[in-house]
Amino acid sequence: MTHRIVSLAMLSLCGALSLSAHAQTAQEGKAAFVACTGCHSVDGSAKPTGPTLKGIVGRKAASVAAYRNYSAALRGSKITWTAQELDAYLKAPSTRVKGTTMMIATPDEKRRKAIVAYLATLK
Ligand code: HEC
Repeated sequence: MTHRIVSLAMLSLCGALSLSAHAQTAQEGKAAFVACTGCHSVDGSAKPTGPTLKGIVGRKAASVAAYRNYSAALRGSKITWTAQELDAYLKAPSTRVKGTTMMIATPDEKRRKAIVAYLATLK
């Protein structure tokens, strides 16, 4: 009985820990995202420099109607943005989508993962 209570307590502790680790990563990603805010909004507002990233996870690439400057390459990429696809694109945009006009690469894996975790919070 005691054992069972202890393992239940351990379980909920682990849950709380992994949750806060995730929140921490997204927080780091938000800080790293300053490199992106010059071109991208996160609240759905239009910028001429880049599509808004609000709701980016789950969205089709090049699908923000208000943004008119998408490259033919990104329009034709047939990507749907998952965390994995975002990771590959942000690592080396023009390697993943040859001809994309997004030039900012994030080669550092830890930084990239944090940014993707942050992007996932932009609903
Ligand atoms: C100098 C401006 C600029 C900066 C800085 C920039 N981007 Fe971009 N980004 C663009 C442009 C332009 C596009 C559209 C590319 C295309 O059409 O090929 C784009 C596209 C994207 C897309 C695909 C959006 C869609 O609707 O399919 C994602 C995701 C993205 N950028 C993430 C980022 C992140 C994360 C950062 C920061 C690490 C960043 N960008 C920094 C200009 C920028």
